Amino acid sequence: METIHAGLIGFGNIGSGTVKLLRENGGLIEKRLGARIVIKKIADLDLKTPRPVAVDRKMLTRDAKAIFNDPEISIVIELVGGYEPAKSFILEAIRQGKHVVTANKALLATYGDEIFKAAEERGVNIGFEASVGGTIPVIKTLRESLAANRVRSIFSILNGTTNYILTKMSDEGKNYKTVLREAQSLGFAEADPTFDVEGIDTAHKLGIVLSLSYGKRVNLADIYREGITGVSQQDIEFAKELGYKIKLLAIAIQRGDAIEARIHPTMIPFDHLLASVNSNYNALHIRGDASGPVFLYGQGSGMMPTASAVVADLIDIARDIQKGVSRRVPSRSLSEGGIEEIDLMPMDEIVTNYYFRFSALDRPGVLSKISGILGKHNISIASVIQKGRAPDKAGSVPVVMTTHESREKDMRAALKEIDRLAVLKGKTVRIRIEDDRLK
Ligand code: HSE
Repeated sequence: METIHAGLIGFGNIGSGTVKLLRENGGLIEKRLGARIVIKKIADLDLKTPRPVAVDRKMLTRDAKAIFNDPEISIVIELVGGYEPAKSFILEAIRQGKHVVTANKALLATYGDEIFKAAEERGVNIGFEASVGGTIPVIKTLRESLAANRVRSIFSILNGTTNYILTKMSDEGKNYKTVLREAQSLGFAEADPTFDVEGIDTAHKLGIVLSLSYGKRVNLADIYREGITGVSQQDIEFAKELGYKIKLLAIAIQRGDAIEARIHPTMIPFDHLLASVNSNYNALHIRGDASGPVFLYGQGSGMMPTASAVVADLIDIARDIQKGVSRRVPSRSLSEGGIEEIDLMPMDEIVTNYYFRFSALDRPGVLSKISGILGKHNISIASVIQKGRAPDKAGSVPVVMTTHESREKDMRAALKEIDRLAVLKGKTVRIRIEDDRLK
Protein backbone atom coordinates (compact mmCIF):
# COMPACT_ATOMS: atom_id res chain seq x y z
CA MET A 1 0.00 0.00 0.00
CA GLU A 2 1.27 3.46 -0.96
CA THR A 3 2.30 5.75 1.91
CA ILE A 4 1.84 9.51 1.55
CA HIS A 5 4.00 11.50 3.94
CA ALA A 6 2.99 14.78 5.53
CA GLY A 7 4.90 17.18 7.79
CA LEU A 8 3.12 19.17 10.48
CA ILE A 9 4.22 22.66 11.51
CA GLY A 10 2.47 23.77 14.71
CA PHE A 11 1.80 21.13 17.34
CA GLY A 12 -0.94 22.94 19.26
CA ASN A 13 -4.57 22.09 19.79
CA ILE A 14 -5.59 21.40 16.18
CA GLY A 15 -2.20 19.88 15.33
CA SER A 16 -2.62 17.40 18.19
CA GLY A 17 -6.16 16.68 17.02
CA THR A 18 -4.89 15.98 13.51
CA VAL A 19 -2.32 13.46 14.76
CA LYS A 20 -4.93 11.86 17.03
CA LEU A 21 -7.55 11.59 14.28
CA LEU A 22 -5.13 10.04 11.77
CA ARG A 23 -4.19 7.55 14.45
CA GLU A 24 -7.71 6.72 15.65
CA ASN A 25 -9.36 6.52 12.22
CA GLY A 26 -6.24 5.56 10.24
CA GLY A 27 -7.54 2.09 9.37
CA LEU A 28 -10.80 3.44 8.01
CA ILE A 29 -9.05 6.24 6.09
CA GLU A 30 -6.69 3.66 4.56
CA LYS A 31 -9.67 1.63 3.35
CA ARG A 32 -11.33 4.70 1.88
CA LEU A 33 -8.15 5.97 0.25
CA GLY A 34 -6.33 2.77 -0.65
CA ALA A 35 -3.21 4.49 0.74
CA ARG A 36 -1.78 5.40 4.11
CA ILE A 37 -1.28 9.00 5.27
CA VAL A 38 1.60 9.27 7.72
CA ILE A 39 2.77 12.39 9.55
CA LYS A 40 6.50 11.89 9.36
CA LYS A 41 7.78 15.01 11.11
CA ILE A 42 6.35 17.61 13.47
CA ALA A 43 7.92 21.05 13.93
CA ASP A 44 7.17 23.32 16.87
CA LEU A 45 9.24 25.73 18.93
CA ASP A 46 7.75 24.33 22.13
CA LEU A 47 8.58 20.65 22.49
CA LYS A 48 8.15 20.58 26.28
CA THR A 49 4.46 21.24 26.97
CA PRO A 50 2.61 17.91 27.27
CA ARG A 51 0.22 17.26 24.35
CA PRO A 52 -3.04 15.29 24.43
CA VAL A 53 -1.43 12.76 22.06
CA ALA A 54 1.88 10.93 22.50
CA VAL A 55 4.35 10.87 19.60
CA ASP A 56 7.77 9.37 19.04
CA ARG A 57 10.29 12.07 20.06
CA LYS A 58 12.33 11.29 16.95
CA MET A 59 9.54 12.84 14.85
CA LEU A 60 9.85 16.17 16.65
CA THR A 61 11.98 19.10 15.56
CA ARG A 62 12.20 22.79 16.35
CA ASP A 63 13.26 23.55 12.79
CA ALA A 64 10.62 23.67 10.03
CA LYS A 65 13.43 23.29 7.44
CA ALA A 66 13.65 19.62 8.41
CA ILE A 67 10.18 19.29 6.85
CA PHE A 68 10.81 21.39 3.73
CA ASN A 69 14.07 19.56 3.04
CA ASP A 70 12.61 16.07 3.38
CA PRO A 71 11.96 14.86 -0.18
CA GLU A 72 9.64 12.13 1.07
CA ILE A 73 7.20 14.69 2.53
CA SER A 74 4.70 15.75 -0.11
CA ILE A 75 2.18 17.66 2.05
CA VAL A 76 2.94 20.40 4.60
CA ILE A 77 0.28 21.10 7.23
CA GLU A 78 0.60 24.68 8.55
CA LEU A 79 -1.15 25.10 11.89
CA VAL A 80 0.99 27.86 13.37
CA GLY A 81 -1.61 30.59 12.78
CA GLY A 82 -0.97 34.34 12.41
CA TYR A 83 0.87 36.06 9.56
CA GLU A 84 4.56 35.35 10.10
CA PRO A 85 6.32 32.95 10.07
CA ALA A 86 3.22 31.09 8.78
CA LYS A 87 3.29 32.92 5.44
CA SER A 88 6.99 32.21 4.85
CA PHE A 89 6.44 28.55 5.80
CA ILE A 90 3.63 28.18 3.26
CA LEU A 91 5.52 29.96 0.47
CA GLU A 92 8.62 27.86 1.16
CA ALA A 93 6.57 24.65 1.07
CA ILE A 94 5.08 25.73 -2.27
CA ARG A 95 8.53 26.64 -3.61
CA GLN A 96 9.68 23.12 -2.75
CA GLY A 97 6.71 21.72 -4.71
CA LYS A 98 4.83 20.48 -1.65
CA HIS A 99 1.06 20.67 -1.26
CA VAL A 100 -0.20 22.70 1.69
CA VAL A 101 -3.04 22.28 4.18
CA THR A 102 -3.79 25.21 6.46
CA ALA A 103 -6.48 26.49 8.84
CA ASN A 104 -5.08 30.02 8.70
CA LYS A 105 -8.03 32.28 7.82
CA ALA A 106 -6.28 35.55 8.75
CA LEU A 107 -3.39 34.73 6.43
CA LEU A 108 -5.53 33.59 3.49
CA ALA A 109 -7.94 36.51 3.83
CA THR A 110 -5.04 38.96 3.77
CA TYR A 111 -2.41 37.31 1.56
CA GLY A 112 -4.57 34.77 -0.30
CA ASP A 113 -3.77 36.30 -3.70
CA GLU A 114 -0.04 35.85 -3.31
CA ILE A 115 -0.34 32.36 -1.85
CA PHE A 116 -2.91 31.05 -4.35
CA LYS A 117 -0.95 32.49 -7.28
CA ALA A 118 2.27 30.88 -6.08
CA ALA A 119 0.47 27.55 -5.67
CA GLU A 120 -0.97 27.76 -9.16
CA GLU A 121 2.40 28.56 -10.71
CA ARG A 122 4.04 25.67 -8.89
CA GLY A 123 1.11 23.31 -9.61
CA VAL A 124 0.38 22.39 -5.99
CA ASN A 125 -2.86 22.29 -3.99
CA ILE A 126 -3.78 24.48 -1.03
CA GLY A 127 -6.35 22.83 1.26
CA PHE A 128 -8.06 25.30 3.61
CA GLU A 129 -11.33 23.67 4.61
CA ALA A 130 -10.54 24.26 8.31
CA SER A 131 -10.18 28.01 7.82
CA VAL A 132 -13.91 28.78 7.78
CA GLY A 133 -16.53 27.22 10.04
CA GLY A 134 -14.21 24.64 11.65
CA THR A 135 -15.65 21.26 10.83
CA ILE A 136 -18.34 22.51 8.40
CA PRO A 137 -17.62 21.74 4.72
CA VAL A 138 -17.95 25.39 3.67
CA ILE A 139 -15.14 25.48 1.11
CA LYS A 140 -16.13 22.25 -0.61
CA THR A 141 -19.80 23.25 -0.72
CA LEU A 142 -19.19 26.68 -2.24
CA ARG A 143 -16.40 25.66 -4.60
CA GLU A 144 -17.71 22.29 -5.74
CA SER A 145 -21.23 21.34 -4.66
CA LEU A 146 -22.73 24.73 -5.62
CA ALA A 147 -20.41 25.33 -8.60
CA ALA A 148 -23.38 25.53 -10.99
CA ASN A 149 -25.08 28.33 -9.05
CA ARG A 150 -25.02 32.09 -8.82
CA VAL A 151 -24.89 32.71 -5.09
CA ARG A 152 -27.74 35.11 -4.34
CA SER A 153 -27.18 35.51 -0.62
CA ILE A 154 -25.35 34.16 2.41
CA PHE A 155 -26.45 34.81 5.98
CA SER A 156 -23.97 33.21 8.34
CA ILE A 157 -22.64 32.84 11.87
CA LEU A 158 -18.89 32.38 11.46
CA ASN A 159 -17.47 32.99 14.92
CA GLY A 160 -17.99 30.56 17.80
CA THR A 161 -16.77 32.86 20.57
CA THR A 162 -19.25 35.65 19.86
CA ASN A 163 -22.06 33.17 19.27
CA TYR A 164 -21.25 31.55 22.62
CA ILE A 165 -21.28 34.94 24.35
CA LEU A 166 -24.58 36.05 22.80
CA THR A 167 -26.19 32.66 23.57
CA LYS A 168 -25.21 32.79 27.25
CA MET A 169 -26.22 36.46 27.60
CA SER A 170 -29.60 35.65 26.09
CA ASP A 171 -30.36 32.28 27.72
CA GLU A 172 -28.76 32.78 31.13
CA GLY A 173 -28.79 36.58 31.51
CA LYS A 174 -25.03 36.49 32.21
CA ASN A 175 -22.94 39.57 31.60
CA TYR A 176 -20.59 40.00 28.66
CA LYS A 177 -17.29 39.90 30.56
CA THR A 178 -18.06 36.72 32.51
CA VAL A 179 -19.09 34.87 29.37
CA LEU A 180 -16.04 36.04 27.39
CA ARG A 181 -13.82 34.54 30.11
CA GLU A 182 -15.76 31.25 29.84
CA ALA A 183 -15.28 31.17 26.05
CA GLN A 184 -11.55 31.78 26.48
CA SER A 185 -11.23 28.97 29.00
CA LEU A 186 -13.06 26.62 26.62
CA GLY A 187 -10.46 27.36 23.93
CA PHE A 188 -12.82 28.90 21.34
CA ALA A 189 -11.40 32.41 21.43
CA GLU A 190 -8.46 33.69 19.37
CA ALA A 191 -5.19 34.49 21.19
CA ASP A 192 -6.33 38.10 21.07
CA PRO A 193 -10.10 38.04 21.76
CA THR A 194 -10.47 41.45 20.07
CA PHE A 195 -10.33 39.48 16.83
CA ASP A 196 -13.48 37.64 17.92
CA VAL A 197 -15.54 40.32 19.65
CA GLU A 198 -14.81 43.09 17.14
CA GLY A 199 -15.77 40.84 14.22
CA ILE A 200 -12.26 40.71 12.71
CA ASP A 201 -12.14 36.89 12.72
CA THR A 202 -15.60 36.89 11.10
CA ALA A 203 -14.36 39.36 8.46
CA HIS A 204 -11.43 37.08 7.60
CA LYS A 205 -13.85 34.20 7.11
CA LEU A 206 -16.39 36.27 5.17
CA GLY A 207 -13.54 37.46 2.91
CA ILE A 208 -12.73 33.84 2.05
CA VAL A 209 -16.42 32.98 1.59
CA LEU A 210 -16.88 35.97 -0.77
CA SER A 211 -13.91 35.04 -2.90
CA LEU A 212 -15.25 31.48 -3.23
CA SER A 213 -18.82 32.55 -3.92
CA TYR A 214 -18.09 35.28 -6.43
CA GLY A 215 -14.68 34.16 -7.66
CA LYS A 216 -13.23 37.53 -6.85
CA ARG A 217 -10.76 39.02 -4.45
CA VAL A 218 -11.98 41.24 -1.65
CA ASN A 219 -10.37 44.15 0.06
CA LEU A 220 -11.04 43.31 3.72
CA ALA A 221 -11.13 46.97 4.71
CA ASP A 222 -14.18 47.42 2.45
CA ILE A 223 -16.29 44.94 4.43
CA TYR A 224 -18.47 46.84 6.92
CA ARG A 225 -17.79 45.47 10.40
CA GLU A 226 -19.32 45.97 13.83
CA GLY A 227 -18.59 43.64 16.75
CA ILE A 228 -20.69 42.65 19.74
CA THR A 229 -19.21 44.85 22.47
CA GLY A 230 -22.15 47.27 22.23
CA VAL A 231 -24.86 44.61 22.62
CA SER A 232 -26.58 45.09 25.99
CA GLN A 233 -28.83 42.88 28.08
CA GLN A 234 -31.56 45.48 27.64
CA ASP A 235 -31.50 45.15 23.83
CA ILE A 236 -31.46 41.36 24.09
CA GLU A 237 -34.64 41.57 26.22
CA PHE A 238 -36.38 44.01 23.85
CA ALA A 239 -35.40 41.76 20.92
CA LYS A 240 -37.13 38.83 22.66
CA GLU A 241 -40.24 40.92 23.11
CA LEU A 242 -40.23 41.67 19.39
CA GLY A 243 -39.76 37.98 18.52
CA TYR A 244 -36.06 38.24 17.62
CA LYS A 245 -32.70 36.88 18.69
CA ILE A 246 -29.50 38.88 18.31
CA LYS A 247 -26.72 37.13 16.36
CA LEU A 248 -23.45 38.40 14.91
CA LEU A 249 -24.20 37.80 11.24
CA ALA A 250 -21.81 37.84 8.31
CA ILE A 251 -23.94 38.78 5.32
CA ALA A 252 -23.34 38.70 1.57
CA ILE A 253 -26.13 39.67 -0.81
CA GLN A 254 -25.89 39.98 -4.57
CA ARG A 255 -27.38 43.31 -5.72
CA GLY A 256 -27.06 43.51 -9.51
CA ASP A 257 -23.34 43.68 -10.29
CA ALA A 258 -22.38 44.66 -6.74
CA ILE A 259 -22.25 42.64 -3.54
CA GLU A 260 -23.42 43.80 -0.13
CA ALA A 261 -20.96 42.53 2.46
CA ARG A 262 -21.44 43.39 6.10
CA ILE A 263 -20.88 42.03 9.60
CA HIS A 264 -22.90 43.31 12.53
CA PRO A 265 -25.16 42.25 15.40
CA THR A 266 -28.47 41.45 13.76
CA MET A 267 -31.97 40.73 15.02
CA ILE A 268 -33.38 37.64 13.33
CA PRO A 269 -36.76 35.93 13.86
CA PHE A 270 -36.84 33.36 16.65
CA ASP A 271 -38.19 30.68 14.31
CA HIS A 272 -35.43 31.00 11.70
CA LEU A 273 -32.89 28.16 11.57
CA LEU A 274 -30.04 30.57 12.28
CA ALA A 275 -31.70 31.62 15.55
CA SER A 276 -31.30 28.09 16.90
CA VAL A 277 -27.56 28.04 16.21
CA ASN A 278 -26.25 28.29 19.75
CA SER A 279 -23.04 28.06 21.76
CA ASN A 280 -19.85 27.83 19.66
CA TYR A 281 -21.73 26.40 16.67
CA ASN A 282 -21.45 28.11 13.28
CA ALA A 283 -23.89 27.99 10.36
CA LEU A 284 -24.40 29.31 6.85
CA HIS A 285 -27.71 29.87 5.11
CA ILE A 286 -26.76 30.04 1.44
CA ARG A 287 -29.16 30.72 -1.39
CA GLY A 288 -28.11 29.64 -4.88
CA ASP A 289 -30.22 30.59 -7.90
CA ALA A 290 -30.75 26.95 -8.88
CA SER A 291 -30.30 25.23 -5.52
CA GLY A 292 -32.54 27.46 -3.43
CA PRO A 293 -31.65 27.56 0.26
CA VAL A 294 -28.84 25.35 1.59
CA PHE A 295 -28.14 25.24 5.31
CA LEU A 296 -24.76 24.20 6.75
CA TYR A 297 -24.31 23.75 10.49
CA GLY A 298 -21.60 22.44 12.82
CA GLN A 299 -18.89 23.24 15.33
CA GLY A 300 -16.88 26.23 14.22
CA SER A 301 -13.95 25.54 16.52
CA GLY A 302 -12.44 22.91 18.80
CA MET A 303 -9.70 20.35 18.50
CA MET A 304 -11.38 17.34 16.88
CA PRO A 305 -14.02 19.16 14.78
CA THR A 306 -11.32 21.34 13.20
CA ALA A 307 -8.96 18.35 12.80
CA SER A 308 -11.75 16.63 10.87
CA ALA A 309 -11.55 19.37 8.22
CA VAL A 310 -7.72 19.28 8.15
CA VAL A 311 -7.69 15.51 7.60
CA ALA A 312 -10.41 15.80 4.90
CA ASP A 313 -8.04 18.11 2.98
CA LEU A 314 -5.18 15.64 3.46
CA ILE A 315 -7.37 12.88 2.01
CA ASP A 316 -8.38 15.05 -0.98
CA ILE A 317 -4.76 15.88 -1.76
CA ALA A 318 -3.71 12.25 -1.25
CA ARG A 319 -6.32 11.25 -3.85
CA ASP A 320 -4.80 13.70 -6.36
CA ILE A 321 -1.32 12.36 -5.59
CA GLN A 322 -2.52 8.79 -6.13
CA LYS A 323 -3.97 9.69 -9.54
CA GLY A 324 -0.87 11.67 -10.49
CA VAL A 325 -2.81 14.93 -10.86
CA SER A 326 -2.92 18.17 -8.94
CA ARG A 327 -5.11 21.26 -8.79
CA ARG A 328 -8.08 19.36 -10.22
CA VAL A 329 -10.12 22.00 -8.35
CA PRO A 330 -8.79 25.60 -8.40
CA SER A 331 -8.08 27.25 -5.04
CA ARG A 332 -10.99 29.62 -5.46
CA SER A 333 -14.06 29.12 -7.63
CA LEU A 334 -12.47 30.54 -10.79
CA SER A 335 -9.16 29.65 -12.33
CA GLU A 336 -6.62 32.17 -10.99
CA GLY A 337 -6.56 34.06 -14.33
CA GLY A 338 -10.25 34.95 -13.90
CA ILE A 339 -9.91 36.57 -10.48
CA GLU A 340 -10.88 40.26 -10.29
CA GLU A 341 -11.47 42.78 -7.54
CA ILE A 342 -14.95 42.39 -6.06
CA ASP A 343 -17.27 45.40 -6.28
CA LEU A 344 -18.69 45.87 -2.78
CA MET A 345 -21.74 48.07 -2.37
CA PRO A 346 -21.11 51.18 -0.21
CA MET A 347 -22.71 50.72 3.21
CA ASP A 348 -24.76 53.91 2.75
CA GLU A 349 -26.66 52.21 -0.07
CA ILE A 350 -27.76 49.07 1.77
CA VAL A 351 -31.42 48.64 2.60
CA THR A 352 -32.58 46.87 5.75
CA ASN A 353 -34.95 47.15 8.71
CA TYR A 354 -33.81 48.82 11.92
CA TYR A 355 -34.39 48.58 15.65
CA PHE A 356 -33.86 51.84 17.54
CA ARG A 357 -33.71 52.33 21.29
CA PHE A 358 -33.99 55.99 22.18
CA SER A 359 -33.19 57.23 25.68
CA ALA A 360 -35.88 59.89 25.90
CA LEU A 361 -37.46 62.08 28.54
CA ASP A 362 -40.97 60.86 29.30
CA ARG A 363 -42.78 64.03 28.14
CA PRO A 364 -45.65 64.84 25.82
CA GLY A 365 -44.61 65.37 22.20
CA VAL A 366 -41.35 63.37 22.33
CA LEU A 367 -42.62 60.57 20.10
CA SER A 368 -43.97 63.00 17.54
CA LYS A 369 -40.61 64.83 17.38
CA ILE A 370 -38.77 61.54 16.77
CA SER A 371 -41.27 60.21 14.26
CA GLY A 372 -41.32 63.56 12.44
CA ILE A 373 -37.57 63.38 11.83
CA LEU A 374 -37.77 59.73 10.77
CA GLY A 375 -40.58 60.59 8.32
CA LYS A 376 -38.59 63.48 6.89
CA HIS A 377 -35.79 61.01 6.08
CA ASN A 378 -38.12 58.47 4.41
CA ILE A 379 -38.07 56.07 7.34
CA SER A 380 -41.36 54.41 8.04
CA ILE A 381 -42.06 53.09 11.56
CA ALA A 382 -43.26 49.48 11.89
CA SER A 383 -43.75 49.26 15.68
CA VAL A 384 -43.22 51.21 18.90
CA ILE A 385 -42.74 50.01 22.48
CA GLN A 386 -42.74 52.38 25.41
CA LYS A 387 -43.29 51.11 28.88
CA GLY A 388 -44.23 53.07 31.93
CA ARG A 389 -41.02 52.40 33.77
CA ALA A 390 -38.95 54.41 36.21
CA PRO A 391 -36.57 56.83 34.50
CA ASP A 392 -32.82 56.14 34.74
CA LYS A 393 -30.29 58.50 36.41
CA ALA A 394 -30.42 60.88 33.44
CA GLY A 395 -34.22 60.97 33.77
CA SER A 396 -34.82 59.07 30.53
CA VAL A 397 -36.85 55.99 29.63
CA PRO A 398 -36.26 53.60 26.74
CA VAL A 399 -38.45 54.10 23.68
CA VAL A 400 -38.08 51.30 21.16
CA MET A 401 -39.04 51.47 17.49
CA THR A 402 -38.64 49.13 14.54
CA THR A 403 -38.76 50.34 10.96
CA HIS A 404 -39.84 49.10 7.57
CA GLU A 405 -37.06 48.74 4.97
CA SER A 406 -34.96 51.89 4.92
CA ARG A 407 -31.70 53.07 3.42
CA GLU A 408 -28.64 53.14 5.68
CA LYS A 409 -27.79 56.65 4.53
CA ASP A 410 -31.25 57.92 5.57
CA MET A 411 -31.02 56.11 8.89
CA ARG A 412 -27.69 57.76 9.71
CA ALA A 413 -28.93 61.23 8.76
CA ALA A 414 -32.10 60.78 10.84
CA LEU A 415 -30.26 59.56 13.94
CA LYS A 416 -27.78 62.41 13.70
CA GLU A 417 -30.67 64.83 13.88
CA ILE A 418 -32.59 62.90 16.55
CA ASP A 419 -29.57 62.60 18.84
CA ARG A 420 -29.36 66.40 18.89
CA LEU A 421 -32.86 66.77 20.36
CA ALA A 422 -32.84 68.17 23.90
CA VAL A 423 -35.38 65.51 24.98
CA LEU A 424 -32.91 62.70 24.18
CA LYS A 425 -30.47 61.85 26.96
CA GLY A 426 -28.04 59.44 25.29
CA LYS A 427 -26.90 58.14 21.94
CA THR A 428 -29.57 56.11 20.19
CA VAL A 429 -28.85 52.39 19.94
CA ARG A 430 -29.55 50.90 16.53
CA ILE A 431 -29.44 47.27 15.51
CA ARG A 432 -30.22 46.04 12.02
CA ILE A 433 -33.02 43.52 11.52
CA GLU A 434 -33.04 40.80 8.86
CA ASP A 435 -36.44 39.19 8.51
CA ASP A 436 -38.01 38.79 5.08
CA ARG A 437 -34.63 38.66 3.31
CA LEU A 438 -33.76 35.54 5.34
CA LYS A 439 -36.67 33.51 3.94
N1 HSE B 1 -11.93 32.13 17.44
C1 HSE B 1 -12.60 31.40 16.43
C2 HSE B 1 -14.08 31.31 16.82
C3 HSE B 1 -12.00 30.02 16.31
O1 HSE B 1 -14.43 31.68 17.94
O2 HSE B 1 -14.88 30.89 16.00
C4 HSE B 1 -12.29 29.32 15.03
O3 HSE B 1 -11.88 30.03 13.90
